[in-house]
Amino acid sequence: MAILNIVKEGDETLRKHCRPVTEITPRIIRLLDDMRDTLADADGAGLAAPQVGILRRIAVCDTENGIVELINPEIVATEGQQNELEGCLSVPGVWGITDRPAKVTVKATDRYGKEFTVTGEELDARCFCHEIDHLDGVLFTDNAVHILTPEEVKELNKD
Ligand code: NI
Repeated sequence: MAILNIVKEGDETLRKHCRPVTEITPRIIRLLDDMRDTLADADGAGLAAPQVGILRRIAVCDTENGIVELINPEIVATEGQQNELEGCLSVPGVWGITDRPAKVTVKATDRYGKEFTVTGEELDARCFCHEIDHLDGVLFTDNAVHILTPEEVKELNKD
């Protein structure tokens, strides 16, 4: 297991469309393990493979039910709306208000090759949407309804 380097905005990897995983190889398992370690080390909510330079449809999310590993994730149902704060390990120091569904159901494959669905609300719903966006080269700053000003960020850090 290892801590991987997280690429930052400006790196073209973040703008690429990721390819689906067709076979769960030992290399994919190692990537999942390393992504878990990297996410924990960075104290983030989620991490997508392109953020560590791998153009595959893989993400990990730290949800209220623990770490969820998503291989080839797809959003299959959404409900409601939320406009809450979001950030990204690849866009450090920047925070924005995004427009996301309040509740999201994702279909994905786990590391054993089994298909499953997972439903998340609030932060978990934002995380699923955010990480799946990464797999299509989209950053939260592209569609944020408001990017916090430096003064607003200062206020935020006071809490
Ligand atoms: Ni991100």
